[in-house]
Amino acid sequence: MEDLFRLDNQVAVVIGGAGGIGEAIAMGLGQYGAKIVVASRSIEALKKVAERVGSETGVESAAFTVDVTNEASMDQLVKQVTDRFGTVDILVNAMGLNIKRDALEYPMEDWERIFDVNVKGTMIACKYFGRVMRNNMQGKIINLSSVRGIRGYGGGNSAYCGTKGAVELITKSLAIELSGYKIRVNAVGPALIITPGTFHIQENPKLAEKYRSVIPLNKLGVPEDLVGAAVFLASEASNFVTGQTIYVDGGLTAS
Ligand SMILES: NC(=O)c1ccc[n+]([C@@H]2O[C@H](COP(=O)([O-])OP(=O)(O)OC[C@H]3O[C@@H](n4cnc5c(N)ncnc54)[C@H](OP(=O)(O)O)[C@@H]3O)[C@@H](O)[C@H]2O)c1
Repeated sequence: MEDLFRLDNQVAVVIGGAGGIGEAIAMGLGQYGAKIVVASRSIEALKKVAERVGSETGVESAAFTVDVTNEASMDQLVKQVTDRFGTVDILVNAMGLNIKRDALEYPMEDWERIFDVNVKGTMIACKYFGRVMRNNMQGKIINLSSVRGIRGYGGGNSAYCGTKGAVELITKSLAIELSGYKIRVNAVGPALIITPGTFHIQENPKLAEKYRSVIPLNKLGVPEDLVGAAVFLASEASNFVTGQTIYVDGGLTAS
């Protein structure tokens, strides 16, 4: 029972692991014993994270590039991971993009870019890594949704909210469709998390207070806040959980 959350000898791939939430989840899964692959487009940043995971947790780690919008690139990533580690047990889709634009002026090329990464990219990753998991008759997929996946939001976020709503229903649908292969598909839905992309909010006291004031726990999230939910969803502890989103949001969606 005490090993319920351990991930020893599991192979975890964290796409979007070059920084922010993905890096924190990669570190967390490594601390629980999983071998870690981080992947995205920026190899230098990925190598630094892989080295950090290896040196701070002692697990084997590697960095590979992938463009999630491209099927051939994802196929190549799967081959690199399975050549090096033999298999894949855990997939975390932590890549993402937001482009804020007024709804009535929204450039459709930006709309397509954000849907390509957040929605198509999630599906492509689930499709290619899901095939390895199907062969193994087991696997854990964790998608990054957002509180914006179930709540509308102004301020130019119509496309982003649309993508995260899609991620929520893709998660539920894949959970049902892949259940016969014992592949569990869940999501985590953070509120605002301070990462390099949102650091300016923390630096601006008025803006920070605006975001904090709607959080019942009265705090802005940090990437490490996602680790507990990710370890739970990656581990045996969640074997009877699929198709769910865990909102890591300080209570924002409780009301
Ligand atoms: N931070 C928040 O407040 C917050 C709140 C709710 C949900 N989320 C979600 O949580 C996830 C992580 O957020 P974050 O704040 O950590 O984001 P981030 O720091 O911007 O990281 C996103 C990652 O996505 C990767 N990426 C973008 N396009 C890609 C592509 N075409 N192929 C492969 N990788 C690509 C980027 O790496 P490369 O540039 O190296 O490709 C980047 O490392 C996202 O899905 C985001 O929507 C974040």
